[in-house]
Amino acid sequence: MSSFIPVADAADLQEGDVLTATVGGASVVITRVGGVLYALDNVCSHDQSPFDEATMDGYELCCPRHEGRFDVRSGKATRFPAVWPISAWPVKEEEGRIWVDVAPQTRGAG
Ligand code: FES
Repeated sequence: MSSFIPVADAADLQEGDVLTATVGGASVVITRVGGVLYALDNVCSHDQSPFDEATMDGYELCCPRHEGRFDVRSGKATRFPAVWPISAWPVKEEEGRIWVDVAPQTRGAG
């Protein structure tokens, strides 16, 4: 069953922006690359730190703590010291808002 929850106005997330939000008890990091939205766990797999103040470099989410990186299309770690992937959540833009589905069964790798 789909359980998308609105998390932000779509206008608040421009190309290459990164925002974090708490939705349904989960903390997520959301970005937009090539016009496509991506939502992933807001917990770096290296040191369990949030991605607050993270930046984007192409499709890579750059962790501000130790410069680990993740491909937002797959969740895979792309730069040491990050090694393990982070999970992704379904995300969509509709009615001018960004919606994320954090129902446990929707959680996926990347
Ligand atoms: S906490 Fe993200 S790379 Fe270390």
